[in-house]
Amino acid sequence: MAGKIITVTSGKGGVGKTTTTANIGVALASRGRKVVVVDADIGLRNLDVVMGLENRVVYNLIHVVRGVASAERALIRDKRVPGLMLLAADQHSDKDDVDPEEMKDVCDQLRAFADFILVDSPAGIEQGFRNALAPADEVLLVTTPEVSAVRDADRVIGLVEASGKPAPRLVLNRIKPELVARGDMMSTEDVLDILRIHIIGIVPEDGDIVAATNRGEPVTLKRGSRAGQAYHNIAARLDGEDLPFMNLELPPTSLLDRLSHLFNLGGSGGTT
Ligand SMILES: Nc1ncnc2c1ncn2[C@@H]1O[C@H](COP(=O)(O)OP(=O)(O)OP(=O)(O)O)[C@@H](O)[C@H]1O
Ligand SMILES: [Mg+2]
Repeated sequence: MAGKIITVTSGKGGVGKTTTTANIGVALASRGRKVVVVDADIGLRNLDVVMGLENRVVYNLIHVVRGVASAERALIRDKRVPGLMLLAADQHSDKDDVDPEEMKDVCDQLRAFADFILVDSPAGIEQGFRNALAPADEVLLVTTPEVSAVRDADRVIGLVEASGKPAPRLVLNRIKPELVARGDMMSTEDVLDILRIHIIGIVPEDGDIVAATNRGEPVTLKRGSRAGQAYHNIAARLDGEDLPFMNLELPPTSLLDRLSHLFNLGGSGGTT
């Protein structure tokens, strides 16, 4: 097996990198793929918590870097989804305790165990980001439709390209169709006009995500959630399927809404 390494990054913090990594991991594994999710947010580990695996962490990424444990030994197998594995971060170390070459080395070792290695990047563009970017064959860039997040995402696109990697693909997270329809939130087209990269998925704002995260059960494990469906679609696209995008556009409700939609927002959200 020679797994593909996909780094999930953002620039701005708190936009949904860890949620995206965990859920795409679940979705790819439920398609029968072998997946390792790697927590590269050293010092602030939380991918293990989001995945509900925190009580099973014995060895972590730093142990593998230092040769204390083999990559195989350090992997935690998720009993709910066959084929899904986690390499946890060390809470007691610092991002500077690993360098990009070491990160590349560990991720290269993981290629033997999985079809996909998903690396959850820390926020920012410093050492932790450089560590997470170094091993990437491909980069997914997560942003919310907010000006500050999009601006940071734009900066990250430049850094990814300057590092010689292919342009990232975009995951647009926390879209609220009703706000987009009212013109109170940037639409997918607005964001793409600024960033000018390909989009791989649009994830709606979904209250189930917060509850699911608190229970340590990524929302994708549950049937019927819209965000879960969005993550399944992203996984299918990563897996080479050519799927249409979900339609998140809400039909305008009142005549006034319809008119404002017609005159002000032509096409907003239309391709989602
Ligand atoms: N589509 C969504 N709908 C609702 N809540 C969401 C969605 N995506 C993420 N969240 C919530 O937003 C918060 C931040 O998400 P997450 O931890 O994944 O972000 P992050 O980018 O990894 O943050 P950090 O930069 O701190 O690592 C969490 O509470 C999560 O549950
Ligand atoms: Mg995170």
